[in-house]
Amino acid sequence: MSIHSNIVWHELMVSKKDRHIQNGHKSCVLWFTGLSGSGKSTLANAVDYELFKNHYYSYVLDGDNIRHGLNKDLGFQEYDRKENIRRIGEVAKLFVDSGIIVSTAFISPFQEDRNRIREMFAQDEFIEIYLQCPIQVCEKRDPKGLYSKARKGEIPHFTGISSPYEKPQNPEIIIDTNQLSIHQSVQKVLAYLKEKQLLP
Ligand code: PPS
Repeated sequence: MSIHSNIVWHELMVSKKDRHIQNGHKSCVLWFTGLSGSGKSTLANAVDYELFKNHYYSYVLDGDNIRHGLNKDLGFQEYDRKENIRRIGEVAKLFVDSGIIVSTAFISPFQEDRNRIREMFAQDEFIEIYLQCPIQVCEKRDPKGLYSKARKGEIPHFTGISSPYEKPQNPEIIIDTNQLSIHQSVQKVLAYLKEKQLLP
């Protein structure tokens, strides 16, 4: 007998659609992916701030923060990163179900994992945003001094140096954070949300 055999899915009384109608906008996940230092947290927060200012329901799930709590048992080997992303996908799904626009800022280096998350959502609910930025530029920014440590061999499995990053094959949005300002990048995301009628 499977451990799940006595568990029955319980339909909620308030549907996602009811919440969209009451909130005045749809919910979705803005899945920011890119190298360390490519601008994920900065942009996810800037988009969230803009949405918040306009009275939309939104929130940010950030890799560094989630690894302090929910995922503090996980490291950076392949298995850990996959499990990290799997859990975040489940949490993001709950947020979307609750009517919130959730921005996730995780390196999420593997295409297979990102695809798996995409499959959990309806079309238009999962928006993959690739923060394209040459590793040389990320390394020069090095806001937390991690590239420097990784080059000295002090951080094992560091993305882009000793652990792979697979570029998104078909992201909804590409932002070249080496070329666009934060303001321009935020506008690009908001324009997409309006074009897809996720925002009024
Ligand atoms: S992943 O790959 O999606 O599971 O990573 P994520 O949860 O986004 O965590 C990335 C942040 O953890 C710090 N850090 C590392 N990053 C990459 N490789 C290694 N080995 C590593 N060790 C610690 C780092 O601060 C990352 O944050 P960002 O914002 O990407 O710089």
